[in-house]
Amino acid sequence: MQETVLANATLILPDRVAKGHLVIREGHIAVIDNGTAPRGAIDCEGDFLAPGLIELHTDNLERHIQPRPGVDWPHAAAIFAHDAELAGCGITTVFDAMRVGSIPSRKDYAPYARHLATELLAQRAAGGLKISHHLHLRAEICCESLLDELDQFGPADRVGLVSLMDHTPGQRQFRDTAMLETYLRSKVQMEDREIARYFDELKALSAQNGAAHEAGAVRFANSVGAVLASHDDSTKTEVARSAEHGIRLAEFPTTREAAEACRAHGIRTIMGAPNLIRGGSHSGNIAARDLAAAGLLDIVSSDYVPSALLSAAALLAQIWEDWPRAIACVTATPALAAGLSDRGRLATGQRADLIRFRMIGDTPSLRESWVVGQRVA
Ligand SMILES: [Fe+2]
Repeated sequence: MQETVLANATLILPDRVAKGHLVIREGHIAVIDNGTAPRGAIDCEGDFLAPGLIELHTDNLERHIQPRPGVDWPHAAAIFAHDAELAGCGITTVFDAMRVGSIPSRKDYAPYARHLATELLAQRAAGGLKISHHLHLRAEICCESLLDELDQFGPADRVGLVSLMDHTPGQRQFRDTAMLETYLRSKVQMEDREIARYFDELKALSAQNGAAHEAGAVRFANSVGAVLASHDDSTKTEVARSAEHGIRLAEFPTTREAAEACRAHGIRTIMGAPNLIRGGSHSGNIAARDLAAAGLLDIVSSDYVPSALLSAAALLAQIWEDWPRAIACVTATPALAAGLSDRGRLATGQRADLIRFRMIGDTPSLRESWVVGQRVA
């Protein structure tokens, strides 16, 4: 039987950090022990050994598909590059976020999810991907085309996550519209008059479609067995509505009020790793560090910078002086939230999705990643 032994490691176990070795057999963790390692072991030189990171919300694939505005890169090559980048950042399971719901007046908001998902699933079926990929559909609930786009997905796609997004100006992520205006001016080259017209258009769409589409997206998620998540909750009322939909996962609550309401409703919170590392949100919302300090942060997502996930875990370990607690935010807790019970912890019987890293100064340096016992980076 093929066996890999990783010895002389600093193991980040669910409840403690311990020196020892770990044995992989048939893609799973067979033994964790602090005794003498068997012969032929790989010497980890004292490096940390942790579960592979689990990423629930990343736009990174979009960045590879469109490396510059208007450039549509060949999708197969983009998917491979994205997959390899994540493996190299220690991410061994990813929920690739794809937007459903489009805005005809914006060139950068055309439909793409169905096409891209088909390509990704084909690569996965062909064994071309290093890490474990799942679909995360980001449902823009105010968009005209949302329900038609969702209809193109079914149980065979095994959609893992559906998040309910409402990016209407004046609420949630864009309660303060100044950041959005800056974005539209610089990224989409909109002028002030166009921006005003565009905001009116979005508010009208919200009034027209918001409630019906939200209900439709919830129905869709339930029909395909996907986990539902809310997005950018900013008030108690919004969180209460999430709870009514049966939501147990909140992406990027924007205020302390919303994060506290999530706690009261038993909803786990996800905060962005870039927000943690930069010390604040790029949209001017609550700092993830404040939620971490208040014990209101459960899960971290790399959002738009894959390497930020491990860095954010290291930062939390420093803030909390607790590696197991910090690592759980990027492994065991997202696994639980996404309904994956076979991974996320260093424990016998779990998938051997593992990472080896060491700290150089305050920055983690990834040495190796394994997925189901196979080295992928
Ligand atoms: Fe958002």
